[in-house]
Amino acid sequence: MLQAFLLLFVAGLLVWGLWGNPRRKNLPPGPPQYPLLGNLPQIIKAHPFGYRAYHKLSQQYGELMHVKVGLQDQIVISSYKALKDLLDKEEISGRMWNGFLVDRSHGKELGMIFSSLPAQKDLKTYVMRALRDYGFNKSDSMEATVREELKHFHGRMSSIAKKNGGLHRMERFFQSSIMSILWVMMAGERYDHDDPNLERLLKINSTWFQSGNFGAGMVVAYPFLRFLFKEWTGYYRIEEGNEMIWGFIREVIEEHRNRKEYKSEPTNFIDHFLHEVDKAGGKSELFTEEQFVIICYDMFQGGFETTSNTLAYGMLYMILNPHIQKKAQEELDKTFEKRQIASIMDKTKVPYTTATMLETLRMSNILPVPGPRKATKDYYYNGYLIPKGFSVALNTYSVMRDTKIFGDDVDTFRPERFIGPDGKLNGLEQYIQMSWGAGRRSCIGDKLAQTTLFMFLTYLLRNFSFHKVENQPDPTTEPIFGMILSPQPFDVIVKER
Ligand code: HEM
Repeated sequence: MLQAFLLLFVAGLLVWGLWGNPRRKNLPPGPPQYPLLGNLPQIIKAHPFGYRAYHKLSQQYGELMHVKVGLQDQIVISSYKALKDLLDKEEISGRMWNGFLVDRSHGKELGMIFSSLPAQKDLKTYVMRALRDYGFNKSDSMEATVREELKHFHGRMSSIAKKNGGLHRMERFFQSSIMSILWVMMAGERYDHDDPNLERLLKINSTWFQSGNFGAGMVVAYPFLRFLFKEWTGYYRIEEGNEMIWGFIREVIEEHRNRKEYKSEPTNFIDHFLHEVDKAGGKSELFTEEQFVIICYDMFQGGFETTSNTLAYGMLYMILNPHIQKKAQEELDKTFEKRQIASIMDKTKVPYTTATMLETLRMSNILPVPGPRKATKDYYYNGYLIPKGFSVALNTYSVMRDTKIFGDDVDTFRPERFIGPDGKLNGLEQYIQMSWGAGRRSCIGDKLAQTTLFMFLTYLLRNFSFHKVENQPDPTTEPIFGMILSPQPFDVIVKER
């Protein structure tokens, strides 16, 4: 029965692939397409990691490229200029919402990251404004939160330095601190690092991200496969992750409802939203509990895996480049006392350390092809058509590895590229800003991420030093491939300075 169904299905797709989807005029160039497979053969041949395949193919086809990922038409934008020009256009400001993303929000277009509905704009504005009331995106309060976390963090790092000769596994070490910072912004309280629930949640979230990728993942190319081959596509891990994360958020909602504080004077974002839900009394599409579950989901997924993986990469680059670590430490030693916590305003005082942070963002590029946009209307750019309904990939990897911007040694970790002859930052940092996208769908957490990265990096290097484990091969910087790139497991020797 299943075989007959599959046969019919494939035959139907073949007919549709050959005749049902005529090629539009003026599309950007791209590799020739195969029925049903689209450009998957060329993408896979170019590189097993989708984003690197896009980088390679875009060097052949240009800054705007048309590819077909299985059944999905996609325009890939691969230059800084084209990204800058296009990302703030209303016509390119939808977000692709299909396949497993539909399941993530119970078949409804909810939340901030993956919705293209006009209401998304209002929701994003509301969330940013409400979060701001509790410190988000306000420099002083954000720094105060990170500062508080760093005090706890010092204790954790210090006890690591004292045990086992300072040996510690690092690739996931920062997750709980980053989650805790986000949690203060959302729930008004720190999260206990030793909470076993938190540990499980963080782990399951990482697995969720490693289960697929937006570039050329099979469940993106052929969404129906996720139901037929759950094991093979890794979809069962996404389902498991969804259940776990929804459950976690629902428990938090329940807890806040039981406390009843939200009814009178909300003092945190969660209470604020619950207050609005009650006020709306079921008459609003924005203020519903199911909407709120997905907003929290967005905040977790947008917020902590991204920042913590970047920090872990920072550590990895430091142990692989001890001369850079030493140079940054010399600069920090001259500028800050021990245990003094820097402010983001101090960036210009420590240009080399700031350049080290920028180089970490460039090289780790943990979102090389972020969740794709969707064209909501036909749009022409330099004579090329981006048709309504097409997925639009932001190939930031090609920007971060652009030799015309960063020089020939783009694969080398070299903070000096960001420093001018006067010893100050030379302006190349503007390109790194593209790590957070641009326009109305740009990241809401760029300030928080930059503040956290800068404050953590300066504090870590001022107070600790990090070393490779002797007699072990150098850890690789090759990522674990997924929707967000993460470093492979690596060990570090931590010493208190
Ligand atoms: C190193 C850290 C981070 C990186 C590299 C990053 C990167 C990105 C990128 C590339 C996008 C898509 C932008 C676009 O389409 O133009 C995005 C969207 C988003 N990010 Fe981040 N992000 C980071 C941290 C955060 C944090 C800390 C939060 C939350 C506090 C967050 C929440 C979001 C949300 C909600 C969106 C969806 C915005 C929308 O679609 O309108 N991100 N992020």
